[in-house]
Amino acid sequence: MEITVVGGGYVGLVTSACFANLGHTVRIIEIDSHKVEQINKGIPPIFEEGLEEILTRTIGKNLTAQSDYKSIENSDVFFICVGTPPQEDGSANLCYLAQAAESIGAAIQGTKKYQVITVKSTVPPGTTESVVLPAVLNASGRIRETIGFCMNPEFLREGKAIEDFQNPDRIVIGGDSQDAISTVKKVYEGVPGPVIITSLPAAEMIKYASNAFLAMKISFSNEIGNICKKLGIHVYEVMNGVGYDHRINPHFLNAGLGFGGSCFPKDVMALIRLAERNNEEPVLLSSVIEVNEKQPDRIVSLLKERISTINNKRIAILGLAFKDNTDDVRDSRAIPVIRSLLNEGADIVAYDPMATDSMKRYYPDLQYVKSAGNALKGADACLILTEWPEFKELESEFDTMKSRVIIEGRRILSIEGVEGVCW
Ligand code: UDX
Repeated sequence: MEITVVGGGYVGLVTSACFANLGHTVRIIEIDSHKVEQINKGIPPIFEEGLEEILTRTIGKNLTAQSDYKSIENSDVFFICVGTPPQEDGSANLCYLAQAAESIGAAIQGTKKYQVITVKSTVPPGTTESVVLPAVLNASGRIRETIGFCMNPEFLREGKAIEDFQNPDRIVIGGDSQDAISTVKKVYEGVPGPVIITSLPAAEMIKYASNAFLAMKISFSNEIGNICKKLGIHVYEVMNGVGYDHRINPHFLNAGLGFGGSCFPKDVMALIRLAERNNEEPVLLSSVIEVNEKQPDRIVSLLKERISTINNKRIAILGLAFKDNTDDVRDSRAIPVIRSLLNEGADIVAYDPMATDSMKRYYPDLQYVKSAGNALKGADACLILTEWPEFKELESEFDTMKSRVIIEGRRILSIEGVEGVCW
């Protein structure tokens, strides 16, 4: 099939590459010309396992990137993968989405064949119908019956996005008609997993509800962890026992510093705002955020208890990325931890295998080093803020610390007797 993907960011690029890998002909429209250049050279502008390999195989053949809306009028399906960043109050900003819809509409004005516009961006329920549909119809001047509309949320985890695309738990397709749904279903032919057909707003809500549920599991584990720590019980022992119940399942029960990244914090906030606008008080969702916001403060308070004062102390920070296997620091829990430590007068030495450059945008003046060993030398204390597997190998490096105060925000070390933020 001929596919146009609007937005060459994280979701758009991974989706495009995977569609091309299935044999479709894919055009990516990305306004950032530097990104377009990189993609067309087969260089992924983001780090994602397996992406470079697919790009190398498909770019210039059945995958290309461009910054205008030319030569796309005959595409069978359009996927809108632009950002819906949070506005000041946490609600989703839909202006890029509306612009993309309008530009697609203008590009397909004269086309006669049936085409489907699919939203992949995370959007509040009702958006495809109330924002995208009118924008496309107005700009194209075409009649309603000649264009189908779908909403097909993504559930890709950073670092595992290709694997998630190729082996999804489910493919959700919300549509305004059978024809539209069948067209999008055809795009996914060859991808295993159940296809869930829903209404447009239900598909939009499935994305928010899924992310909110996962975020809730994390905050729940953290709250249980905070209680367990007071009682002298190890939360990992507890959640292991809890997770064996098939109704709960063992995933996403890792207590620690809480969730970061580009999705969970933003999506839970957007859902809260959506509820409030509809005169609902989302008590549970608000608590999910509240627990998450407090976990970083907890590790700093615990550190203070252990070393009495943070002022002028050399603190080794191991891990800056919001999780392992990514260079992404968006909403990383390391950001508020570093902020509090700096406020307390700490002398920070930070190490991350991949995310140092990204963190320099937030904290350009920190001392960044090239190995965990270098960060630990002479440190008064060490905080583990990301679950990087390489930290498992650390052992004798801790002997070079001035005092052996180690606190895990993520449980990853293999040495004995280390306490965690809530264990
Ligand atoms: C998430 C969703 O998993 C994905 O389906 C959605 O499309 C986008 O958002 P991602 O942000 O890449 O993916 O990361 P994920 O692996 O889900 O982790 C999110 C955060 O939760 C990380 O900061 C991670 O460290 C934290 N986390 C995860 C925990 O604290 N405990 C856990 O048990 C699991």
